[in-house]
Amino acid sequence: MEWFEDETLWTGFGEVMFSAERAAEAEARVSMSPLLRVPAGAAVLDLGCGPGTYTIPLARRGAAVTGVDLSAALLDRAVTAASAAGVGIRLVRADMREFVEPDRYDLAISMYTSFGLFADHDQNMRVLRNVLASLKPGGRALIDLYGKEIAARDGLAPKIVDVDGGTLVVRGTVLAGWTRFRDDFLLVRDGQARTAVVEHALYSAAELKGMLREAGFTDVDCFGGFDGEPFDNHARRLIVRGRRG
Ligand SMILES: C[S@@+](CC[C@H](N)C(=O)[O-])C[C@H]1O[C@@H](n2cnc3c(N)ncnc32)[C@H](O)[C@@H]1O
Repeated sequence: MEWFEDETLWTGFGEVMFSAERAAEAEARVSMSPLLRVPAGAAVLDLGCGPGTYTIPLARRGAAVTGVDLSAALLDRAVTAASAAGVGIRLVRADMREFVEPDRYDLAISMYTSFGLFADHDQNMRVLRNVLASLKPGGRALIDLYGKEIAARDGLAPKIVDVDGGTLVVRGTVLAGWTRFRDDFLLVRDGQARTAVVEHALYSAAELKGMLREAGFTDVDCFGGFDGEPFDNHARRLIVRGRRG
């Protein structure tokens, strides 16, 4: 089993990974970010939507959003959150390596390092080709990642974070000559310790832009944050955008 197929990761750690703070941050980004601005009625694909972190704020702003995810537990959370928010969203349980809906979307987003999950480079390329095919001509894809330059700049000292009723320890490790990254999580709560592992590709901006171009995207550019700031030494995220020509 691959790490992302293990539902105990999402049930055991979902609450701390997808916290109320992150939901509020997503809500603020969707209302302010020029990169996430869509006209009401626009068709948006949220690939690896998780518990609807971005799906729901986008739907609240009038987009017709489809959230795709492999985790039944996280999709259940998205259903509950959408009903609490009083918005309609479409959810599809699918593997992003297989999911294609040709010519359907104005915008496709992949948020919070939901891209580059597969150890095999060709499978990550396949996801990009699926996204390209699913966009309408002129539609855009936006990929938000923890990138290589940011990992190198910020260092990898273990982080200890207070979470509701417990403590979370996160330790990042660079793998395979700076091409992959692994996060080890330890959550101590209610006298219990749980561990989990998350692994993903570690792309530089140039590498990720090259992959989008190879997949057939045009007008590929990158940003260092959701205000559309440049990807420079102050970058907080690696955000790459491409267009279906
Ligand atoms: C780091 S989470 C991000 C979730 C959400 N985008 C957010 O911003 O909170 C990565 C998501 O990718 C999903 N995922 C992992 N492998 C997948 C696959 N093969 N196909 C579809 N979704 C997948 C996980 O279930 C999880 O919801």
